[in-house]
Amino acid sequence: MTTQTLPETQVDAFPINGTDYIEFYVGNAKQAAHYYQAAFGFQLVGYQGPETGVRDRVSYLLVQNKIRFVLTTPLAPGGPIADHIAMHGDGVRDLAFWVDDAREAFATAVARGATGVQQPTVTRDDDGEVVIAAIATYGDTIHSIVERRNYRGLFLPGFRAVQPAFQPPPTGLLHVDHCVGNVELGRMNDWVRFYERVLGFFNLLSFDDKDISTEYSSLMSKVMSNGNGRIKFPINEPASGKKKSQIEEYLDFYRGPGVQHIAMATNNIIETVTGLRDRGVEFLTVPGSYYDTVLDRVGTIDEDLEPLRHLGILIDRDDEGYLLQIFTKPVEDRPTLFYEIIQRKGAQSFGKGNFKALFESIEREQALRGNL
Ligand code: FE2
Repeated sequence: MTTQTLPETQVDAFPINGTDYIEFYVGNAKQAAHYYQAAFGFQLVGYQGPETGVRDRVSYLLVQNKIRFVLTTPLAPGGPIADHIAMHGDGVRDLAFWVDDAREAFATAVARGATGVQQPTVTRDDDGEVVIAAIATYGDTIHSIVERRNYRGLFLPGFRAVQPAFQPPPTGLLHVDHCVGNVELGRMNDWVRFYERVLGFFNLLSFDDKDISTEYSSLMSKVMSNGNGRIKFPINEPASGKKKSQIEEYLDFYRGPGVQHIAMATNNIIETVTGLRDRGVEFLTVPGSYYDTVLDRVGTIDEDLEPLRHLGILIDRDDEGYLLQIFTKPVEDRPTLFYEIIQRKGAQSFGKGNFKALFESIEREQALRGNL
């Protein structure tokens, strides 16, 4: 493993304020919205669809603290959204960036080699105007570039505020910690260079197949961070192993590269995971023997070990502190997108010490699916 940091004197080559929203294309946004409300404790706060003058799709806006998800379903066959769902199943279409000047950011990205997906487009309503452009990234995934300095509304023009009767309590999810992309064998470094050259990201950490391998499968990963550190995108590619790696399984079922997992941060992982489990979120498990030796590896921690063992929460430590993390099973029928819940207590790394236990857990699930 190697680590790097951006020199403090270096100018941010592509200023991004943070993640604006994550949009999913799904087969039935109404039901998916209910899942994110009931299971994860998101609040449904916005909607657009036929009732608001949008004829070809519906979108639901779900919020929990700083996390903003948009779930979109088309209302007719054919067209880019329906085609995306037919190819990939439910999945992430858009990891949107919040910028100060979308026209400038789009022009800069395209001049540096990005593929434009949407020219800067202004939309307006009574609350002001938003400028959105978009560029392509791996697979059919895009980065919208959102400028909202002249907008005071709920989210985007066209979205109507809603206050449903069903408002389950939140589960303590605070913000997106990182979003991981799976790309094809041999393509990781192409996308690393894309994020470096086009979007001014830097390579924060690298893992090779010696860091991340089990008896059966391995992968390589490089963690890319934007200039201000608020956006972190690990990029994975499969490495050859005895059997099919989890990355290959994802690529087979997603039919190409895409977002593998989204990590969401909490300040109290025991409470958050207890709540999520009670509401039906399914998590990967590790053998109880993991907890017999984990404190030898990570040293003293603030939490009691027993609830961590009971919930299956993993622990890792780096030079700066420690972290607690756990991974859900895939949240759709294809073994594609899943979530990570993470609590950082100083550590800024990604749980390298847990990779082996985690991947063995994933492989047990792969074997049950007949995909190992
Ligand atoms: Fe992660």
